Amino acid sequence: MVITDLVERLDAAVKLRDTGAITAGVKRELETVIHAGALTLPDRFRRTRPDGYARRLLYRSDALGYSAVVMTWAPGQRTPLHDHAGIWCVEGVVEGRMDVTQYDLVEETSDRYRFEARGCVHAAVGSAGCLIPPFEYHILANAIDRPSITLHIYGGEMTSCHVFEPSDDGRYVRKERTLHYDD
Ligand SMILES: [Fe+2]
Repeated sequence: MVITDLVERLDAAVKLRDTGAITAGVKRELETVIHAGALTLPDRFRRTRPDGYARRLLYRSDALGYSAVVMTWAPGQRTPLHDHAGIWCVEGVVEGRMDVTQYDLVEETSDRYRFEARGCVHAAVGSAGCLIPPFEYHILANAIDRPSITLHIYGGEMTSCHVFEPSDDGRYVRKERTLHYDD
Protein backbone atom coordinates (compact mmCIF):
# COMPACT_ATOMS: atom_id res chain seq x y z
CA MET A 1 0.00 0.00 0.00
CA VAL A 2 1.54 3.27 -1.09
CA ILE A 3 0.16 5.31 1.80
CA THR A 4 1.25 3.07 4.70
CA ASP A 5 3.70 5.63 6.01
CA LEU A 6 1.08 8.38 5.93
CA VAL A 7 -1.50 6.22 7.74
CA GLU A 8 0.95 5.30 10.51
CA ARG A 9 1.70 8.98 11.07
CA LEU A 10 -1.97 9.99 11.01
CA ASP A 11 -2.94 7.20 13.41
CA ALA A 12 -0.43 8.50 15.95
CA ALA A 13 -1.57 12.11 15.54
CA VAL A 14 -5.31 11.49 15.94
CA LYS A 15 -4.64 9.62 19.21
CA LEU A 16 -3.48 12.88 20.80
CA ARG A 17 -5.55 14.40 23.58
CA ASP A 18 -7.59 17.21 22.07
CA THR A 19 -8.58 18.82 18.80
CA GLY A 20 -5.83 21.47 18.91
CA ALA A 21 -3.11 18.88 19.47
CA ILE A 22 -4.59 16.50 16.90
CA THR A 23 -4.84 19.08 14.12
CA ALA A 24 -1.35 20.42 14.87
CA GLY A 25 -0.01 16.87 14.75
CA VAL A 26 -1.84 16.00 11.54
CA LYS A 27 -0.62 19.23 9.93
CA ARG A 28 2.99 18.44 10.88
CA GLU A 29 2.74 14.89 9.50
CA LEU A 30 1.08 15.99 6.26
CA GLU A 31 3.75 18.62 5.64
CA THR A 32 6.53 16.16 6.42
CA VAL A 33 5.18 13.46 4.11
CA ILE A 34 4.49 15.86 1.22
CA HIS A 35 7.86 17.62 1.55
CA ALA A 36 9.62 14.27 1.53
CA GLY A 37 7.84 13.32 -1.69
CA ALA A 38 6.70 10.20 0.15
CA LEU A 39 3.08 10.34 -0.92
CA THR A 40 2.51 8.42 -4.15
CA LEU A 41 -1.07 8.64 -5.27
CA PRO A 42 -2.57 6.02 -7.58
CA ASP A 43 -3.33 7.39 -11.06
CA ARG A 44 -7.07 7.68 -10.59
CA PHE A 45 -6.53 10.41 -7.98
CA ARG A 46 -4.87 12.56 -10.60
CA ARG A 47 -7.84 12.71 -12.96
CA THR A 48 -9.72 16.00 -13.06
CA ARG A 49 -13.42 16.20 -13.85
CA PRO A 50 -14.98 18.70 -16.24
CA ASP A 51 -17.99 19.55 -14.05
CA GLY A 52 -16.19 20.48 -10.83
CA TYR A 53 -13.31 19.46 -8.59
CA ALA A 54 -12.98 15.70 -8.01
CA ARG A 55 -13.35 14.28 -4.50
CA ARG A 56 -12.07 10.75 -3.88
CA LEU A 57 -11.65 8.71 -0.70
CA LEU A 58 -8.01 7.76 -0.13
CA TYR A 59 -8.36 6.12 3.28
CA ARG A 60 -10.82 5.76 6.13
CA SER A 61 -9.97 4.61 9.65
CA ASP A 62 -12.99 2.94 11.19
CA ALA A 63 -11.04 2.37 14.41
CA LEU A 64 -9.99 6.00 14.86
CA GLY A 65 -12.85 7.67 13.02
CA TYR A 66 -10.95 9.84 10.55
CA SER A 67 -10.90 9.95 6.78
CA ALA A 68 -8.46 11.10 4.11
CA VAL A 69 -9.88 12.58 0.92
CA VAL A 70 -7.98 13.67 -2.19
CA MET A 71 -9.34 16.54 -4.24
CA THR A 72 -8.19 17.21 -7.78
CA TRP A 73 -8.76 20.63 -9.27
CA ALA A 74 -8.71 21.62 -12.93
CA PRO A 75 -7.77 25.24 -13.75
CA GLY A 76 -10.51 27.63 -12.63
CA GLN A 77 -12.23 25.16 -10.30
CA ARG A 78 -13.21 26.27 -6.80
CA THR A 79 -15.62 25.58 -3.96
CA PRO A 80 -18.47 27.83 -2.95
CA LEU A 81 -18.24 29.36 0.53
CA HIS A 82 -18.91 26.38 2.80
CA ASP A 83 -18.72 25.04 6.34
CA HIS A 84 -17.30 21.73 7.57
CA ALA A 85 -20.34 20.33 9.42
CA GLY A 86 -18.57 20.89 12.73
CA ILE A 87 -15.76 18.47 11.84
CA TRP A 88 -12.09 19.43 12.20
CA CYS A 89 -10.03 19.25 9.05
CA VAL A 90 -6.42 19.64 7.93
CA GLU A 91 -5.82 20.38 4.26
CA GLY A 92 -2.48 20.08 2.51
CA VAL A 93 -1.38 20.94 -1.02
CA VAL A 94 0.16 17.89 -2.74
CA GLU A 95 0.63 19.42 -6.19
CA GLY A 96 0.07 22.85 -7.71
CA ARG A 97 -1.06 25.84 -5.70
CA MET A 98 -4.32 26.83 -4.01
CA ASP A 99 -5.92 30.07 -2.88
CA VAL A 100 -7.61 29.63 0.50
CA THR A 101 -9.89 32.41 1.73
CA GLN A 102 -11.03 32.12 5.33
CA TYR A 103 -14.32 33.73 6.39
CA ASP A 104 -15.74 34.74 9.76
CA LEU A 105 -19.45 34.41 10.37
CA VAL A 106 -20.36 37.81 11.84
CA GLU A 107 -24.16 37.79 11.81
CA GLU A 108 -26.86 35.18 11.54
CA THR A 109 -30.55 36.00 11.20
CA SER A 110 -33.39 33.63 10.43
CA ASP A 111 -32.46 32.96 6.82
CA ARG A 112 -29.48 35.18 6.03
CA TYR A 113 -25.80 34.97 6.98
CA ARG A 114 -23.23 37.69 6.90
CA PHE A 115 -19.53 36.87 6.48
CA GLU A 116 -16.31 38.82 6.44
CA ALA A 117 -13.34 37.57 4.45
CA ARG A 118 -10.21 37.18 6.56
CA GLY A 119 -7.70 37.41 3.75
CA CYS A 120 -6.44 34.93 1.23
CA VAL A 121 -3.59 32.49 1.75
CA HIS A 122 -1.65 31.32 -1.30
CA ALA A 123 -0.87 27.74 -0.36
CA ALA A 124 2.05 26.07 -2.12
CA VAL A 125 3.09 22.42 -2.25
CA GLY A 126 3.77 21.04 1.22
CA SER A 127 1.83 23.68 3.13
CA ALA A 128 -1.17 22.62 5.21
CA GLY A 129 -3.86 24.53 7.08
CA CYS A 130 -6.16 23.57 9.96
CA LEU A 131 -9.87 24.23 10.26
CA ILE A 132 -11.24 23.91 13.78
CA PRO A 133 -14.96 24.57 14.34
CA PRO A 134 -16.53 27.04 14.95
CA PHE A 135 -13.94 28.64 12.62
CA GLU A 136 -14.85 26.47 9.69
CA TYR A 137 -15.85 28.68 6.76
CA HIS A 138 -13.75 29.06 3.66
CA ILE A 139 -13.40 28.98 -0.11
CA LEU A 140 -10.74 26.90 -1.86
CA ALA A 141 -9.70 27.66 -5.43
CA ASN A 142 -7.09 26.30 -7.78
CA ALA A 143 -4.67 29.21 -8.20
CA ILE A 144 -2.87 28.12 -11.35
CA ASP A 145 -3.57 27.18 -14.96
CA ARG A 146 -2.60 23.55 -14.39
CA PRO A 147 -4.30 20.93 -12.19
CA SER A 148 -3.72 21.07 -8.43
CA ILE A 149 -4.13 18.22 -5.93
CA THR A 150 -4.98 18.57 -2.23
CA LEU A 151 -5.26 16.08 0.61
CA HIS A 152 -7.89 16.61 3.32
CA ILE A 153 -7.88 14.80 6.66
CA TYR A 154 -11.25 14.97 8.44
CA GLY A 155 -12.03 14.08 12.04
CA GLY A 156 -14.91 11.95 10.79
CA GLU A 157 -16.49 11.42 7.42
CA MET A 158 -18.04 14.50 5.88
CA THR A 159 -21.16 13.31 4.07
CA SER A 160 -22.80 16.72 3.91
CA CYS A 161 -22.06 20.35 4.65
CA HIS A 162 -23.63 23.74 4.09
CA VAL A 163 -22.82 26.01 1.20
CA PHE A 164 -23.54 29.73 1.31
CA GLU A 165 -24.80 31.44 -1.83
CA PRO A 166 -24.45 35.22 -2.17
CA SER A 167 -27.71 37.16 -2.33
CA ASP A 168 -28.36 40.68 -3.65
CA ASP A 169 -28.03 42.40 -0.26
CA GLY A 170 -24.46 41.17 0.30
CA ARG A 171 -25.54 38.47 2.72
CA TYR A 172 -25.63 34.73 2.04
CA VAL A 173 -28.33 32.07 1.89
CA ARG A 174 -27.47 28.70 3.45
CA LYS A 175 -28.11 25.48 1.55
CA GLU A 176 -27.47 21.89 2.57
CA ARG A 177 -25.18 20.00 0.23
CA THR A 178 -24.77 16.23 0.13
CA LEU A 179 -21.19 15.19 -0.56
CA HIS A 180 -20.18 12.08 -2.44
CA TYR A 181 -17.00 10.43 -3.66
CA ASP A 182 -16.07 10.32 -7.32
CA ASP A 183 -14.61 7.12 -8.78
FE1 LIG B 1 -13.40 23.02 3.10
